[in-house]
Amino acid sequence: MIKKIKKIIKKKNKSKIVCLTAYSKNIAEIVDAHADIVLVGDSLGSVLYNYNTTRKVNLSMMLEHAKSVRMGVRSSLLVLDLPFNTYRNKSEALKNSKKAIKETKCDAVKVEGGVRVQHIVNHLVKNKIPVLGHIGITPQTVRGKFKSVGKTEIESKKLIRDARALEKNGAFGIVLECVYSDISKKITNLIKIPTIGIGASVHCDGQVLVTDDILGLTDSKTKFAKKYINIKKIINSAILKFKNEVKSKKYPTKKYSY
Ligand code: KIV
Repeated sequence: MIKKIKKIIKKKNKSKIVCLTAYSKNIAEIVDAHADIVLVGDSLGSVLYNYNTTRKVNLSMMLEHAKSVRMGVRSSLLVLDLPFNTYRNKSEALKNSKKAIKETKCDAVKVEGGVRVQHIVNHLVKNKIPVLGHIGITPQTVRGKFKSVGKTEIESKKLIRDARALEKNGAFGIVLECVYSDISKKITNLIKIPTIGIGASVHCDGQVLVTDDILGLTDSKTKFAKKYINIKKIINSAILKFKNEVKSKKYPTKKYSY
């Protein structure tokens, strides 16, 4: 197991794990200075390409974004989301994970699902590919509106079974998305690998968010998507200044001319 992953697992019950998405070098560089894990998430489908589902994201898009992100990541663990239909069986998952690692130099892959994908996780881990799991709301398979899961006994039992299956088959951590607080707490206490929550309460071992959401670059109305700054406003004012200077011929002065 690579050093960075051991370090992340050791944080369980000691200090919270910070995970954020990045889709390109410039944001990755900033995130890398603060996060334990940088995730090239297939959320880029909705954030950058306006897709109504992550199912439209394909492997080559993920690889191009991950190559750019890799240039900005030095210390964090770099995880790449395997997109929809790229891990339907063991050999497909292994072939695509190997390609991703070879071409992007990412450290690990993330797959969505629990018991359903346990054989895939097992196969990847046996072949030395570190895997981050993802259960709860899994956008690649969810139909209709996203809602929280884990309030009913059936849902909570399924989530626990899924988490245990991922742990047993070698995942080094699990993203819990939109999981009801009590169940996130229960799962986090039950398993030895870290849980990383997104809309899954403070009880998780870490938290992940989409960087574009926390910066205010998206108009996300999702409950958990806390906006820490309205960067759009700042960008807007810089662009407006540039426009005004161009129009009034204040730019470029001699300093900015050859
Ligand atoms: O695609 C993504 O960005 C994700 C995180 C939000 C967990 O899966």
